[in-house]
Amino acid sequence: MDQKCRIYSPEDFVGLRRAGWLAAHILDHVAPLVVNGITTLELDQACQDEILKHNAIPACKGYNGYPNSTCISLNHVVCHGIPSAQKIRNGDILNIDVTVIVDGFYGDSSRMYVVGKASPKALELIDAARSALMLAIDLVKPGARLGDVGSAIQNYVEARKFSVVRDYCGHGIGRVFHDEPAVLHFGKPGTGLKLKPGHVFTIEPMINVGGHETRLLADGWTAVTRDHSLSAQFEHTVGVTEDGCEIFTISPEESRG
Ligand code: MF3
Ligand code: CO
Ligand code: CO
Repeated sequence: MDQKCRIYSPEDFVGLRRAGWLAAHILDHVAPLVVNGITTLELDQACQDEILKHNAIPACKGYNGYPNSTCISLNHVVCHGIPSAQKIRNGDILNIDVTVIVDGFYGDSSRMYVVGKASPKALELIDAARSALMLAIDLVKPGARLGDVGSAIQNYVEARKFSVVRDYCGHGIGRVFHDEPAVLHFGKPGTGLKLKPGHVFTIEPMINVGGHETRLLADGWTAVTRDHSLSAQFEHTVGVTEDGCEIFTISPEESRG
């Protein structure tokens, strides 16, 4: 298992930092546009324009035939929502997931946005998803196992009475988009890949108000909760360092933990 996971050098980390910075910048840039009445396609277009302005490549566009530059997942959409003419409305919650390529390095990150005022339950779900990601990142260091990370996410989310999606996971990333290892957001401590400096991957827990089961829509991309309950997700790209990890996609506006 170890062999399959690439080790990135300190020089590679410089490139990963630049790609991660741009992904975070795009998510900051789009935030003020998330208002009642805008379409998800307009949000996608704004992200794409800003990516191109930085001479970077939107990694999703054309990836396995995916049509757009971002994934925008509204309310009960778990992930891979395709931007469309649908208008977002007050009370909606949405995830915008951006992956950019800068000088051959990938940066992949997603965040939740709220349109106007959302329900207390929706806000609680979003808070749990953000906290689950950040507490998982705090465990990433040499010698830790991916099973430690997955089980910490699962324990935290289930203690808050939400469920963890099993059908989608985080992934190795770097000079390729989706690489080994698979980063599960559930599992058993002491199992899975033992982390080493230079491992680079995403953590991107999707959590639901109801059950964890998902269903794929006929478009072949959009994953929704089977019970139509709300879903939330945050994603960062991280690299293992000598004594912990670096969050490549952290924005200056965000604080850690
Ligand atoms: N950015 C997504 C991830 O976190 C992948 C989207 S692939 C696409 O891995 F083709 F749907 F865009
Ligand atoms: Co990802
Ligand atoms: Co992503």
